[in-house]
Amino acid sequence: MTAQFSNKGEAWSARFSEPVSDLVKRYTASVFFDNRLAMVDIAGSLAHAEMLAAQGIISVLDRADIERGMAQIKSEIEAGSFEWLLDLEDVHLNIEKRLTELVGDAGKRLHTGRSRNDQVATDIRLYVRSAIDDIVLLLQSLRGALLDLAEQHADTIMPGFTHMQVAQPITFGHHMLAYVEMFGRDVERMQDARKRVNRLPLGAAALAGTTFPIDRLRVAKTLGFDDVCHNSLDAVSDRDFAIEFCAAGALVMMHVSRMSEELVIWMSPRVGFIDIADRFCTGSSIMPQKKNPDVPELARGKTGRVYGDLMSLLTLMKGQPLAYNKDNQEDKEPLFDTVDTVVDTLRIFADMAGAITVKPEAMRAAALQGYATATDLADYLVKKGLPFRDAHEAVARAVRACDDAKCDLSEMSLERLRDFSPLVADDVFAVLTLGGSVAARDHVGGTAPRQVREAIARVRAQLAS
Ligand code: ARG
Repeated sequence: MTAQFSNKGEAWSARFSEPVSDLVKRYTASVFFDNRLAMVDIAGSLAHAEMLAAQGIISVLDRADIERGMAQIKSEIEAGSFEWLLDLEDVHLNIEKRLTELVGDAGKRLHTGRSRNDQVATDIRLYVRSAIDDIVLLLQSLRGALLDLAEQHADTIMPGFTHMQVAQPITFGHHMLAYVEMFGRDVERMQDARKRVNRLPLGAAALAGTTFPIDRLRVAKTLGFDDVCHNSLDAVSDRDFAIEFCAAGALVMMHVSRMSEELVIWMSPRVGFIDIADRFCTGSSIMPQKKNPDVPELARGKTGRVYGDLMSLLTLMKGQPLAYNKDNQEDKEPLFDTVDTVVDTLRIFADMAGAITVKPEAMRAAALQGYATATDLADYLVKKGLPFRDAHEAVARAVRACDDAKCDLSEMSLERLRDFSPLVADDVFAVLTLGGSVAARDHVGGTAPRQVREAIARVRAQLAS
């Protein structure tokens, strides 16, 4: 097992004449949060060692020792027996020290031509890359679940809202497809950010590069990077790729939060459009009748912390002169928090989407309440030759009359409707029904059930490719 190391004899300590105080040690250490980078740190070290050996900078034997030691360290970490020491500051020094303990001088040679500055930048890029890949899969599975819901309800009519007032009838399937589109753009944003994440900093060393004859492209290839970072100062210092990722994560949460807001409203007993399975809700400790939509509410709340993470990183970066500054150690917790929050939220939402029960009768009743087909009546009059503004006016008067009579437009008699325009004939009732209204919006992007089914097929084909 690893011994407790004193401050003396550490990677940087020969230069120092007095030990660091305990408080400063705790203040400057990152090992208790950056140890989550352990596996990518080891992967980076193995690729670096492989290149050092291939270039004749270390011996083949040294490389074999490093590989053996790292395999042992990996299994200790996986078994939970690896002892992380605050004295050793961060994940990099902890692993290096243990390696040296296990394999001797070869462990001390690993850091040749490398600095923790390019090492940590590499680790974070590997970490963000794999987070992006996970998040893209989760977004696609959420989209798949929403597509299923949309398909079941391609014909289910609900009121569409503007200003939170009933506006025009739409289908619930169409409404779900709006979120499929939003999360689809989130996928694109993640994939686009990945291109800029996937470049290798190693080789930049502390800031200026290294005097050893390294082969950066070889390391890039081993680690699956598309390219190397082309400027050593930039490579070790900028975290724009992590900021970009957090911005994309913030947009994912913004979409999740909008959806959450709707789920909360729809589930409120006053609205009653949906129910969410009990396993996503909780009760109240005092009010026995309650079933609260906790998951959507929490997701809406957690959106704030992800925005905060983004703001932290932007602020962290803005004042830093080139090249590396210790400020950058503060990049990790906000980044990890964004990954954890986005991953957990998407995982729960993909599951919850399949646990939503739609109540078509409540949706239909609400759609019948707000003169949702008024625009259809106006369009009808326009098709009979009335200029749109005049049609708008005629229908506005009809709606006022309905208000007084407490009835829907479709419940007015033909004679009464003709009071507002003599162009009305008995074919008007076909456009005043909710079904007629949605079916008539039959173009790409429209709410007609036929279009909803086509849109679903289009997205399914993309998901399958
Ligand atoms: N723990 C450090 C970080 O997260 C590693 C790099 C430290 N480099 C240094 N020159 N102190 O940024």
